[in-house]
Amino acid sequence: MQSPFRNKEDVRQQNDYHHKELMQYPAVYGNKSSKSLWSKSITIRKIAVFSVVVSFLLYVLWGTINVTVVDSTIGTLPDDSNRNRINELQLVCNEVFTDNRDFIQNQPRKNYDTLPVIYFVTPTYPRREQAPELIRLAHTLLHVPRIHWILANDYNACNAYLDGFLVKLGLPFTHLASPMPEFYRKKKPMPRGVANRRGAIQWIRQRNITNGILYFGDDDNTYDLRLFSEIRETQRVSMFPVGLIEEYSVSGPIVKKGKVVGFLDSWVAERRWPVDMAGFATNLAYLAEHSNASMPYKPGYEEDLFLRSIKLNLNIIEPKARNCTEILVWHTQTKTRERATLRISNKYLDDRSNLGGLIKSLDAMGVASASDNEGQRTVISKNGKARPLSYFLS
Ligand SMILES: *[C@@H]1O[C@H](CO)[C@@H](O)[C@H](O)[C@H]1NC(C)=O
Ligand SMILES: *[C@@H]1O[C@H](CO)[C@@H](O)[C@H](O)[C@H]1NC(C)=O
Ligand SMILES: *[C@@H]1O[C@H](CO)[C@@H](O)[C@H](O)[C@H]1NC(C)=O
Repeated sequence: MQSPFRNKEDVRQQNDYHHKELMQYPAVYGNKSSKSLWSKSITIRKIAVFSVVVSFLLYVLWGTINVTVVDSTIGTLPDDSNRNRINELQLVCNEVFTDNRDFIQNQPRKNYDTLPVIYFVTPTYPRREQAPELIRLAHTLLHVPRIHWILANDYNACNAYLDGFLVKLGLPFTHLASPMPEFYRKKKPMPRGVANRRGAIQWIRQRNITNGILYFGDDDNTYDLRLFSEIRETQRVSMFPVGLIEEYSVSGPIVKKGKVVGFLDSWVAERRWPVDMAGFATNLAYLAEHSNASMPYKPGYEEDLFLRSIKLNLNIIEPKARNCTEILVWHTQTKTRERATLRISNKYLDDRSNLGGLIKSLDAMGVASASDNEGQRTVISKNGKARPLSYFLS
């Protein structure tokens, strides 16, 4: 039953992800050549190869320009020593420290002013499910006082949709573009989310934030609001069970007399700290004491190696969630699917109907796009009869 890698759904799925990712946000990249181009004739093949090479060169060139922008942004942050630069490709897209909410859980915001801030780090990556996952998570976080959402996107540019989305929420936030280095994209399985979390740690260091709580909250989890009051009390490192993990449907500490003595997790694999990313929180003062703190690019071992890097030992772990008897966070996950291409002639995407606006929204969120000659022919129906678009829009 034990696989050489952590038997997570996402580890299994992530390997077919990279080429799809480049197809996301086509407003930025433009539409790439389709698979069908490869089958017809040799001439077409040559054209296809040529266009792929050209797009690749443009992509590389564009990447280089971006790296320059990234570096200049980083250069403006304090404490920019090499030691702290554990994510070289990072771009700080936006950061907002003001909280624009008037009330949180029926209390005025100022009632919470003395609480430590929770830095909630969410690695995310372009995919069809990205926008709905983040919308759902955002509506949990809106109920949480004193929170700073660090949203780190695995993409080498700042995404305008995500930025607008974050600004409108009114939460304090940092939007990072923290692409996985190309080298790791070729690995199977890919160490997904690592560049993002490294980017967040780097940002916290560069901003010299040594007060508050660090929590790694992925975008495909479900969070009970009680989790936030529990982790806010973290002195050094707290731990608690996570639901829906692997074979046991749970992963978490075993607690005896209020002390953590071992771990319940179906995938041991010599991990000293066999816990889920969502199963622990770290006090930033404790993190700051460990200048070697890092998260290596090793799929399945990210939690273990991070916790080793901050010199964790069993005696200092603070069990939460009623001595680890309750589940306050769930690894829900969403069914993943490739984003859709609707074959709709561009001439129907004008202001005669909502169609143009609708497709534009879906496109910005990386959910679906329209194409003149690719994808499934799109029909519209009325009274149970499918009709071509021209029936309604000419
Ligand atoms: C970081 O904060 C600490 C304590 O608040 C302060 O002593 C130190 O000078 C700061 N460092 C930088 C680089 O801002
Ligand atoms: C956890 O267990 C310890 C030791 O049995 C006990 O003193 C403490 O009250 C428990 N904590 C909670 C929140 O139940
Ligand atoms: C950090 O790592 C370096 C190199 O591995 C080591 O020499 C140093 O002692 C470590 N520092 C701490 C505080 O653990």
